[in-house]
Amino acid sequence: MSRFVYVNGHYRPYHLAFTHIEDRGYQFSDAVYEVICLVNGQLIDMQPHLDRLSYSLKELQILPPLTQEGLSIVIDNVIQKNKIKDGMLYIQVSRGIAQRSHPFPLNTQPVLVVYCRYFHQENFMNSKSDGIKVICQKDSRWSRPDIKSTSLLPNILSKQEALDHNAHDVIFLDSNGYVTESTSSNVWIVNNKGSLQTHPATSKILKGITRGRIISIAYELGVPVCEVPFTLEDLYNAQEAFLSSSVAGIIPIAQVDQQLINPNKTGTVCKKVCQNYIEFTKNFGA
Ligand code: PDD
Repeated sequence: MSRFVYVNGHYRPYHLAFTHIEDRGYQFSDAVYEVICLVNGQLIDMQPHLDRLSYSLKELQILPPLTQEGLSIVIDNVIQKNKIKDGMLYIQVSRGIAQRSHPFPLNTQPVLVVYCRYFHQENFMNSKSDGIKVICQKDSRWSRPDIKSTSLLPNILSKQEALDHNAHDVIFLDSNGYVTESTSSNVWIVNNKGSLQTHPATSKILKGITRGRIISIAYELGVPVCEVPFTLEDLYNAQEAFLSSSVAGIIPIAQVDQQLINPNKTGTVCKKVCQNYIEFTKNFGA
């Protein structure tokens, strides 16, 4: 099937979708992005994703290329043109194309790219339902991971290191030894009080849209949530642990470094939250 991409004002076939060599996204990572999951033709939590995109743009003083309404039309068109019902949608906005120079260029239009591809979230979640192994490392990223910037070098280096150690991901620890997040997900534990615990939405983490959705689901299920930092020791001793992100959904953690996470118990809270999340995505927009 042919694929179409929106790039810089045009819908182009995938193999002809280019930006300029002096796009600042390409030269400086001077760009922000969003990834939204598509389930059965519905973009899950699109509005909070668009709001977070607006936040990232504002924090970096990049002009919005379109209004949210205009962007929604482009997104709809991309999905219709690609005839995809289950997948992921990627949006990127760079500061624009200008002769390479560090200061913000004057009178430059931002470059918007929107594309989608097939992905089946529920199948992916099912393939990881026995839990993944993660390893921990010092958080070496810049101090503003709350901005969804394409500047992801530490994230990809850590992800590769995880794979090289037969693990699925790296969990980052801040300079005080608290767990922040993983290379592309928020991190959760079920603590010894039976509460769901995750890092507060400060500038040290990305305020995940799935994280917000899990808080709502937990509230409906009557599971207490506390947004309080936790240590590596807390993670090792957790009753359950899992990752959350818009594309991968909710993925249980079975092992952290050499420590198995509660090997004798089934992760009941995580399972319940997963089931409810899958139900929520299937009924989204209904
Ligand atoms: N990653 N933390 C980081 C560092 C992330 O990159 C992501 C998302 C999350 C979870 O946020 P959300 O629930 O809004 O997806 C947390 C996306 C999926 C990515 O980079 O592909």
